[in-house]
Amino acid sequence: MILCQISDLHIKAQGKKSYRVVDTAASLRRCIEQVNRLRQRPDAVVFTGDLVDFGMPEEYAALRELLAPLHIPYYLLPGNHDERHALRAAFSDHAYLQQGGAGKDGIEDARIEYVIEDHPLRIVALDTVIPHSSKGELAASSLAWLDRVLGEQPQRPTVIVMHHPPFKTGIGHMDDIGLADPQLLEQVVRRHPQVERVLCGHLHRPIHVRFGGTIASTCPGVSHQVVLDLDPQAASQFVMEPPGFQLHMWDTDAGLISHTAYVGEFDGPYPFYDGDNLID
Ligand SMILES: [Fe+2]
Ligand SMILES: [Fe+2]
Repeated sequence: MILCQISDLHIKAQGKKSYRVVDTAASLRRCIEQVNRLRQRPDAVVFTGDLVDFGMPEEYAALRELLAPLHIPYYLLPGNHDERHALRAAFSDHAYLQQGGAGKDGIEDARIEYVIEDHPLRIVALDTVIPHSSKGELAASSLAWLDRVLGEQPQRPTVIVMHHPPFKTGIGHMDDIGLADPQLLEQVVRRHPQVERVLCGHLHRPIHVRFGGTIASTCPGVSHQVVLDLDPQAASQFVMEPPGFQLHMWDTDAGLISHTAYVGEFDGPYPFYDGDNLID
């Protein structure tokens, strides 16, 4: 099985550019074209949050149109730029989005937490969103739900997907808007060794950290990247480095093998060999 991860779409409506610079709709279009052309077709795609830029209904309508050419089952989860009501309303036919316990205003307000059982790799989605905040958190009830869900199928290889990564990245301004109390999640994950990965977004860069007896990672942005500056005082800036996505290939012998792919037109491929000889 191949699970494709695409992150941080930041879609705007009516041709508007994100931060007045980034044509995020064009970036997503190019990515989907490339994913559709992959020789090994992914079995599913998970979008790890920041689906739109300002959580507005018209942005989700634009997102829906942009995702229409994707001929692979896909799953959405929210990031700090998303808004649960508007996301659920625009994708009301996505039954998994309607799961979850009731929030204070009913289901529309409830966290978007779900389990996908349709694939060899079990997908468990967590919602780290704090409304109107860039920071993330996991509620005590979410951690209890996760512990219970993972305990139900200890033999099934599982990935946890969520927006805010549960680790320090070294990029100061992003750590300032990170996940609160990641050790609480770490304690739960450590109890369930079938967790193959904790796959996250938010950082707009690929980063990998040991976490709770498994690996936690982030994905490149599908349009713009956060500047690689490991200064705790790093300025909050993005850069138009090549956009990317990830392919997580589940192999029953080897486990989960994760690749980062870049979106764009590149020279090649060129052969290494001319007949039996390495090209000189
Ligand atoms: Fe983002
Ligand atoms: Fe984010």
